[in-house]
Amino acid sequence: MVAEVGPWAKEKLDVLARYLDFYTKVLKNQPWRTLYIDAFAGGGRAKVRKKSDGVDALGLLAEPDPLDHEQAEFLDGSPRVALGITNPFARYVFIEPAPKRGKELDGLQAEFGEKLQITTLKMTAAEGITWVTSQSISKQKHRGVAFLDPFGARLEWESVQSLAETGLFEVVVNFALNMAINRMLPNNGEVPSAWSDTLDRYFGSHEWFDEVYSSDADGLFGSTEIRKREDYSERLLQLYRRNLKAAFGHVSTPRLICNTRGAPLYHLLWAGPHKKGLEGANYILSMGERLPKASRQRK
Ligand SMILES: C[S@@+](CC[C@H](N)C(=O)[O-])C[C@H]1O[C@@H](n2cnc3c(N)ncnc32)[C@H](O)[C@@H]1O
Repeated sequence: MVAEVGPWAKEKLDVLARYLDFYTKVLKNQPWRTLYIDAFAGGGRAKVRKKSDGVDALGLLAEPDPLDHEQAEFLDGSPRVALGITNPFARYVFIEPAPKRGKELDGLQAEFGEKLQITTLKMTAAEGITWVTSQSISKQKHRGVAFLDPFGARLEWESVQSLAETGLFEVVVNFALNMAINRMLPNNGEVPSAWSDTLDRYFGSHEWFDEVYSSDADGLFGSTEIRKREDYSERLLQLYRRNLKAAFGHVSTPRLICNTRGAPLYHLLWAGPHKKGLEGANYILSMGERLPKASRQRK
Protein backbone atom coordinates (compact mmCIF):
# COMPACT_ATOMS: atom_id res chain seq x y z
CA MET A 1 0.00 0.00 0.00
CA VAL A 2 1.25 3.44 -0.93
CA ALA A 3 2.08 5.78 1.99
CA GLU A 4 -0.47 8.40 3.02
CA VAL A 5 0.32 12.00 3.84
CA GLY A 6 -1.62 15.02 5.07
CA PRO A 7 -2.41 17.88 2.66
CA TRP A 8 0.34 19.98 4.29
CA ALA A 9 2.95 17.70 2.68
CA LYS A 10 2.28 19.61 -0.56
CA GLU A 11 3.37 22.85 1.03
CA LYS A 12 6.62 21.25 2.18
CA LEU A 13 7.32 19.77 -1.24
CA ASP A 14 6.50 23.05 -3.02
CA VAL A 15 9.08 24.81 -0.88
CA LEU A 16 11.60 22.06 -1.63
CA ALA A 17 10.93 22.23 -5.39
CA ARG A 18 11.30 26.01 -5.42
CA TYR A 19 14.54 25.87 -3.50
CA LEU A 20 16.05 23.12 -5.66
CA ASP A 21 15.10 25.12 -8.77
CA PHE A 22 16.74 28.23 -7.38
CA TYR A 23 19.87 26.32 -6.32
CA THR A 24 20.44 24.47 -9.56
CA LYS A 25 19.74 27.59 -11.62
CA VAL A 26 22.35 29.56 -9.67
CA LEU A 27 24.90 26.75 -10.10
CA LYS A 28 24.01 25.93 -13.69
CA ASN A 29 27.10 27.38 -15.36
CA GLN A 30 29.46 26.83 -12.46
CA PRO A 31 32.18 24.19 -12.57
CA TRP A 32 31.01 22.13 -9.60
CA ARG A 33 29.45 18.69 -9.73
CA THR A 34 26.12 18.95 -7.92
CA LEU A 35 24.74 16.38 -5.45
CA TYR A 36 21.28 15.88 -4.02
CA ILE A 37 20.97 13.76 -0.87
CA ASP A 38 17.50 12.75 0.31
CA ALA A 39 18.29 11.23 3.69
CA PHE A 40 14.68 10.26 4.55
CA ALA A 41 13.55 9.67 1.00
CA GLY A 42 10.29 7.75 1.48
CA GLY A 43 8.87 6.06 -1.63
CA GLY A 44 8.14 7.63 -4.97
CA ARG A 45 4.56 8.73 -4.35
CA ALA A 46 2.09 9.20 -1.53
CA LYS A 47 -1.67 9.43 -1.34
CA VAL A 48 -3.02 12.70 0.08
CA ARG A 49 -5.51 12.21 2.89
CA LYS A 50 -8.68 14.18 2.32
CA LYS A 51 -9.42 14.61 5.99
CA SER A 52 -6.72 15.75 8.35
CA ASP A 53 -7.69 15.53 11.95
CA GLY A 54 -4.17 16.21 13.15
CA VAL A 55 -4.40 13.22 15.50
CA ASP A 56 -2.32 11.08 13.21
CA ALA A 57 -0.23 13.88 11.86
CA LEU A 58 2.72 11.49 11.49
CA GLY A 59 0.73 9.23 9.21
CA LEU A 60 1.91 6.30 11.28
CA LEU A 61 -1.57 5.03 12.05
CA ALA A 62 -2.91 5.57 8.58
CA GLU A 63 -5.36 2.91 7.50
CA PRO A 64 -6.52 2.29 3.99
CA ASP A 65 -9.22 4.85 3.53
CA PRO A 66 -12.51 4.10 1.82
CA LEU A 67 -11.88 6.76 -0.84
CA ASP A 68 -12.49 5.59 -4.31
CA HIS A 69 -9.01 4.95 -5.69
CA GLU A 70 -9.74 6.98 -8.78
CA GLN A 71 -10.70 10.04 -6.78
CA ALA A 72 -7.63 9.87 -4.62
CA GLU A 73 -5.00 12.51 -5.12
CA PHE A 74 -1.43 11.36 -5.38
CA LEU A 75 1.57 13.45 -4.60
CA ASP A 76 5.10 13.00 -5.89
CA GLY A 77 7.42 12.46 -2.95
CA SER A 78 10.64 14.38 -2.47
CA PRO A 79 12.77 12.06 -4.69
CA ARG A 80 10.48 12.61 -7.69
CA VAL A 81 10.33 16.33 -6.94
CA ALA A 82 14.13 16.49 -7.01
CA LEU A 83 14.38 14.37 -10.17
CA GLY A 84 11.81 16.54 -11.95
CA ILE A 85 13.49 19.95 -11.68
CA THR A 86 14.50 21.82 -14.84
CA ASN A 87 18.25 21.64 -14.25
CA PRO A 88 18.83 18.26 -12.61
CA PHE A 89 21.63 17.51 -10.17
CA ALA A 90 24.65 15.57 -11.45
CA ARG A 91 24.04 12.87 -8.86
CA TYR A 92 21.17 11.77 -6.62
CA VAL A 93 21.49 9.72 -3.42
CA PHE A 94 18.28 8.41 -1.87
CA ILE A 95 18.45 6.92 1.62
CA GLU A 96 15.56 4.81 2.92
CA PRO A 97 15.64 1.80 5.26
CA ALA A 98 12.00 0.65 4.85
CA PRO A 99 12.03 -2.28 2.37
CA LYS A 100 8.76 -1.39 0.59
CA ARG A 101 9.79 2.22 0.07
CA GLY A 102 13.24 1.05 -0.99
CA LYS A 103 11.55 -1.01 -3.70
CA GLU A 104 9.63 2.04 -4.90
CA LEU A 105 12.94 3.88 -5.12
CA ASP A 106 14.32 1.04 -7.26
CA GLY A 107 11.43 1.83 -9.60
CA LEU A 108 12.70 5.42 -9.86
CA GLN A 109 16.10 4.09 -10.78
CA ALA A 110 14.50 2.09 -13.59
CA GLU A 111 12.50 5.14 -14.72
CA PHE A 112 15.19 7.84 -14.54
CA GLY A 113 18.45 5.89 -14.21
CA GLU A 114 19.41 6.06 -17.88
CA LYS A 115 19.49 9.84 -17.89
CA LEU A 116 20.35 10.63 -14.29
CA GLN A 117 22.86 9.13 -11.89
CA ILE A 118 20.96 7.70 -8.93
CA THR A 119 22.23 5.73 -5.94
CA THR A 120 19.71 4.18 -3.56
CA LEU A 121 20.98 3.29 -0.10
CA LYS A 122 18.74 0.96 1.89
CA MET A 123 19.95 1.97 5.31
CA THR A 124 19.35 4.58 8.00
CA ALA A 125 20.04 8.26 7.39
CA ALA A 126 22.97 8.17 9.83
CA GLU A 127 24.57 5.27 7.94
CA GLY A 128 23.80 6.79 4.55
CA ILE A 129 25.23 10.20 5.46
CA THR A 130 28.39 8.50 6.77
CA TRP A 131 28.65 6.76 3.40
CA VAL A 132 28.17 10.03 1.50
CA THR A 133 30.74 11.98 3.52
CA SER A 134 33.30 9.16 3.15
CA GLN A 135 33.16 9.37 -0.67
CA SER A 136 35.78 11.43 -2.45
CA ILE A 137 33.85 14.68 -2.48
CA SER A 138 35.46 18.06 -1.92
CA LYS A 139 34.57 21.72 -1.72
CA GLN A 140 36.83 22.30 -4.73
CA LYS A 141 34.81 19.99 -6.97
CA HIS A 142 31.33 19.55 -5.48
CA ARG A 143 28.30 21.38 -4.17
CA GLY A 144 25.18 19.79 -2.75
CA VAL A 145 21.82 19.99 -1.03
CA ALA A 146 20.68 17.48 1.60
CA PHE A 147 16.99 17.23 2.40
CA LEU A 148 16.52 16.01 5.98
CA ASP A 149 12.87 15.10 6.43
CA PRO A 150 12.55 12.55 9.23
CA PHE A 151 9.51 11.18 10.97
CA GLY A 152 9.87 12.79 14.36
CA ALA A 153 13.27 13.10 15.97
CA ARG A 154 15.15 10.43 14.03
CA LEU A 155 17.66 12.86 12.62
CA GLU A 156 20.94 12.73 14.53
CA TRP A 157 22.85 15.96 15.06
CA GLU A 158 26.12 14.13 14.34
CA SER A 159 24.87 13.53 10.77
CA VAL A 160 23.93 17.19 10.31
CA GLN A 161 27.31 18.24 11.69
CA SER A 162 29.18 15.88 9.35
CA LEU A 163 27.37 17.38 6.33
CA ALA A 164 28.31 20.88 7.56
CA GLU A 165 31.95 19.86 7.97
CA THR A 166 32.27 19.04 4.27
CA GLY A 167 31.79 22.78 3.62
CA LEU A 168 29.89 21.96 0.43
CA PHE A 169 26.39 21.04 1.60
CA GLU A 170 23.33 23.13 2.28
CA VAL A 171 20.51 21.49 4.19
CA VAL A 172 16.74 21.83 4.19
CA VAL A 173 15.53 20.42 7.51
CA ASN A 174 12.12 19.42 8.75
CA PHE A 175 12.31 20.44 12.42
CA ALA A 176 9.48 18.36 13.83
CA LEU A 177 8.80 20.46 16.89
CA ASN A 178 5.07 20.04 17.25
CA MET A 179 4.67 16.69 15.54
CA ALA A 180 7.20 14.85 17.62
CA ILE A 181 9.50 16.71 19.94
CA ASN A 182 6.87 18.45 22.09
CA ARG A 183 5.18 15.11 22.64
CA MET A 184 8.34 13.83 24.30
CA LEU A 185 8.34 16.53 26.98
CA PRO A 186 6.02 15.82 29.95
CA ASN A 187 5.04 18.77 32.15
CA ASN A 188 6.77 17.35 35.23
CA GLY A 189 10.18 17.07 33.57
CA GLU A 190 10.34 13.31 34.02
CA VAL A 191 11.38 12.55 30.47
CA PRO A 192 11.73 8.78 29.99
CA SER A 193 15.38 7.91 29.41
CA ALA A 194 14.82 6.50 25.91
CA TRP A 195 13.21 9.82 24.83
CA SER A 196 15.89 11.82 26.61
CA ASP A 197 18.60 9.88 24.73
CA THR A 198 16.78 10.46 21.44
CA LEU A 199 16.59 14.20 22.14
CA ASP A 200 20.28 14.28 23.13
CA ARG A 201 21.14 12.72 19.77
CA TYR A 202 18.74 15.05 17.95
CA PHE A 203 20.11 18.27 19.50
CA GLY A 204 23.68 17.01 19.86
CA SER A 205 23.73 17.70 23.63
CA HIS A 206 21.49 17.83 26.71
CA GLU A 207 21.01 21.62 26.34
CA TRP A 208 17.41 21.12 25.25
CA PHE A 209 16.47 20.20 28.84
CA ASP A 210 17.23 23.65 30.27
CA GLU A 211 15.45 25.33 27.38
CA VAL A 212 12.30 23.39 28.25
CA TYR A 213 12.41 23.21 32.04
CA SER A 214 13.32 25.61 34.81
CA SER A 215 13.88 24.56 38.39
CA ASP A 216 12.67 26.72 41.24
CA ALA A 217 14.03 26.12 44.71
CA ASP A 218 11.08 25.91 47.10
CA GLY A 219 12.29 27.89 50.15
CA LEU A 220 9.86 26.31 52.57
CA PHE A 221 10.89 22.71 52.19
CA GLY A 222 14.21 23.19 50.43
CA SER A 223 13.01 21.04 47.53
CA THR A 224 13.37 21.89 43.85
CA GLU A 225 10.36 22.12 41.62
CA ILE A 226 10.72 21.49 37.90
CA ARG A 227 8.51 23.66 35.71
CA LYS A 228 7.94 23.55 32.00
CA ARG A 229 8.64 26.98 30.57
CA GLU A 230 5.78 28.67 28.73
CA ASP A 231 7.98 29.59 25.79
CA TYR A 232 9.75 26.24 25.56
CA SER A 233 8.74 25.64 21.93
CA GLU A 234 10.26 28.92 20.76
CA ARG A 235 13.36 28.25 22.87
CA LEU A 236 13.86 24.81 21.27
CA LEU A 237 13.45 26.26 17.80
CA GLN A 238 16.02 28.94 18.57
CA LEU A 239 18.40 26.36 20.08
CA TYR A 240 18.24 24.30 16.89
CA ARG A 241 18.69 27.40 14.73
CA ARG A 242 21.75 28.44 16.79
CA ASN A 243 23.23 24.97 16.33
CA LEU A 244 22.65 25.11 12.57
CA LYS A 245 24.17 28.58 12.34
CA ALA A 246 27.23 27.51 14.31
CA ALA A 247 27.67 24.44 12.09
CA PHE A 248 26.97 25.96 8.64
CA GLY A 249 27.47 29.72 9.00
CA HIS A 250 23.96 30.80 7.96
CA VAL A 251 20.46 29.75 8.97
CA SER A 252 17.13 30.85 7.53
CA THR A 253 14.07 32.19 9.24
CA PRO A 254 11.73 29.24 9.85
CA ARG A 255 8.71 28.40 7.70
CA LEU A 256 5.96 27.06 9.93
CA ILE A 257 3.81 24.34 8.38
CA CYS A 258 0.35 23.89 9.91
CA ASN A 259 -2.37 21.28 9.44
CA THR A 260 -5.76 22.12 7.94
CA ARG A 261 -7.03 23.26 11.34
CA GLY A 262 -4.19 25.74 11.68
CA ALA A 263 -2.36 23.73 14.33
CA PRO A 264 1.42 23.96 14.00
CA LEU A 265 3.13 20.76 12.84
CA TYR A 266 6.73 21.49 12.00
CA HIS A 267 9.15 24.11 10.76
CA LEU A 268 11.23 24.03 7.62
CA LEU A 269 14.69 25.46 8.08
CA TRP A 270 17.54 26.03 5.68
CA ALA A 271 21.21 26.22 6.63
CA GLY A 272 24.29 26.59 4.49
CA PRO A 273 27.68 28.19 4.04
CA HIS A 274 26.77 30.98 1.59
CA LYS A 275 24.96 34.28 2.03
CA LYS A 276 23.44 34.00 -1.43
CA GLY A 277 21.87 30.68 -0.45
CA LEU A 278 20.49 32.31 2.70
CA GLU A 279 18.88 35.12 0.73
CA GLY A 280 17.32 32.65 -1.71
CA ALA A 281 16.15 30.39 1.09
CA ASN A 282 14.59 33.21 3.11
CA TYR A 283 12.77 34.44 0.04
CA ILE A 284 11.48 30.98 -0.90
CA LEU A 285 10.55 29.98 2.64
CA SER A 286 8.46 33.13 3.02
CA MET A 287 6.54 32.75 -0.24
CA GLY A 288 3.99 30.43 -1.73
CA GLU A 289 0.64 29.09 -0.85
CA ARG A 290 -0.19 28.10 2.65
CA LEU A 291 -3.23 26.00 3.46
CA PRO A 292 -6.12 28.50 3.32
CA LYS A 293 -6.90 30.00 6.72
CA ALA A 294 -10.64 29.83 6.17
CA SER A 295 -10.54 26.11 5.54
CA ARG A 296 -8.30 25.63 8.58
CA GLN A 297 -10.82 27.43 10.79
CA ARG A 298 -13.86 25.67 9.39
CA LYS A 299 -12.60 22.19 10.28
C1 LIG B 1 8.53 11.94 6.44
S1 LIG B 1 8.91 10.50 5.55
C2 LIG B 1 9.77 11.11 4.15
C3 LIG B 1 8.94 11.77 3.15
C4 LIG B 1 9.69 12.22 1.93
N1 LIG B 1 10.87 12.98 2.27
C5 LIG B 1 8.78 13.09 1.08
O1 LIG B 1 8.69 14.28 1.33
O2 LIG B 1 8.17 12.54 0.15
C6 LIG B 1 10.22 9.80 6.47
C7 LIG B 1 10.86 8.58 5.86
O3 LIG B 1 12.01 8.24 6.63
C8 LIG B 1 12.10 6.83 6.70
N2 LIG B 1 12.91 6.52 7.89
C9 LIG B 1 12.54 6.14 9.11
N3 LIG B 1 13.62 6.03 9.93
C10 LIG B 1 14.66 6.37 9.18
C11 LIG B 1 16.05 6.48 9.43
N4 LIG B 1 16.55 6.21 10.64
N5 LIG B 1 16.84 6.86 8.41
C12 LIG B 1 16.32 7.14 7.19
N6 LIG B 1 15.02 7.06 6.90
C13 LIG B 1 14.22 6.68 7.90
C14 LIG B 1 10.69 6.33 6.77
O4 LIG B 1 10.60 4.99 6.30
C15 LIG B 1 9.99 7.33 5.85
O5 LIG B 1 9.92 6.83 4.54
